[in-house]
Amino acid sequence: MRALGAIVTLLLWGQLFAVDLSNDAMDIADDSCPKPPEVVNGYVEHSVRYRCRPYYRLRSEGDGVYTLNSEKQWVNTVAGEKLPECEAVCGKPKHPVDQVQRIIGGSLDAKGSFPWQAKMISRHNLITGATLISDQWLLTTAKNLFLNHSENATSQDIAPTLKLYVGREQLVEIEKVVLHPNHSTVDIGLIKLKQKVPVNDRVMPICLSSKDYVALGRMGYVSGWGRNANFKFSQRLKYVMLPVADQDRCVQHYEGSTVPEEKAPKSPVGVQPILNGHTFCAGMSKYQEDTCYGDAGSAFAIHDLEQDTWYAAGILSFDKSCTVAEYGVYMKVTSILDWVQNTMADD
Ligand SMILES: *[C@@H]1O[C@H](CO)[C@@H](O)[C@H](O)[C@H]1NC(C)=O
Ligand SMILES: *[C@@H]1O[C@H](CO)[C@@H](O)[C@H](O)[C@H]1NC(C)=O
Ligand SMILES: *[C@@H]1O[C@H](CO)[C@@H](O)[C@H](O)[C@H]1NC(C)=O
Repeated sequence: MRALGAIVTLLLWGQLFAVDLSNDAMDIADDSCPKPPEVVNGYVEHSVRYRCRPYYRLRSEGDGVYTLNSEKQWVNTVAGEKLPECEAVCGKPKHPVDQVQRIIGGSLDAKGSFPWQAKMISRHNLITGATLISDQWLLTTAKNLFLNHSENATSQDIAPTLKLYVGREQLVEIEKVVLHPNHSTVDIGLIKLKQKVPVNDRVMPICLSSKDYVALGRMGYVSGWGRNANFKFSQRLKYVMLPVADQDRCVQHYEGSTVPEEKAPKSPVGVQPILNGHTFCAGMSKYQEDTCYGDAGSAFAIHDLEQDTWYAAGILSFDKSCTVAEYGVYMKVTSILDWVQNTMADD
């Protein structure tokens, strides 16, 4: 009771009293933090260190250490009075795909190796993919967004018709949709969530980089909720490992020629992909696995071994190959990165 009385008195008397009090009284006010012992020829400097929760990291300049200055303000040597911010870690799955395991017929993702993978459902119940690129934004294709909408639909028309799930069937609310200004040639759209989604071992964005990871033969992983070998939508997240393909052969496969005047639609599946300087092709795997309807919007994920970080090199646009046509077609992240970063920053 006596200790409590002392604290109440301090609070009532306010700032002036507290400042004028001797050390003894301060000890009572802050008994959770005992006074550090004194040392000969030295003194105690009060400082605090801000740390981020697991799956978050300090974004701001400075090391997170703040010291009391003579005006009793907490300041950092680099950042000054500006407080640090914790941002979501990207591209560091807790259980990454085992590099050497053989993947036949598209493996199931039981351990959450693709925590950036989201599932999107259109208003006529078609499943497609989307990719978390921060704790509040996702990338998908413009074609996915326009499903069951007329070509004249606006992003405001589209946004309320979508259902979006991250992690293990965790429904998240959409604030808005932003279509790429050239979405007839750059098949991309952004989705902003109403709230930041908590990042953990099941929900984590993939990193984007200005580094070009698209090189012939380079392996990437594509996860997705799309149709499987029996042409049924999968109940569980599946993934395949696919090599980046030769661009000219891909163009010949779908358009007959790489010469503009000699091009003619000849897609083996009847539907033509968008192919241009913003796209690259990948597939199939040597085990004859492929992406299929519903996988579009998912990332072509590349493991940068040096940085031990996963990057999206592309977003799957043409998911209709289904092992019948030879290649899936992806929008290059390097082609859209400026627009993505500007759109997120302007918001
Ligand atoms: C949306 O889907 C429904 C049910 O399949 C269909 O009747 C309707 O015509 C579609 N609308 C558009 C704009 O595609
Ligand atoms: C889209 O807009 C154009 C031009 O305004 C119009 O001609 C067309 O009928 C519209 N299409 C649909 C599906 O509403
Ligand atoms: C859209 O295309 C035009 C013409 O090619 C180009 O100038 C513009 O930069 C493109 N916009 C974006 C965001 O890529």
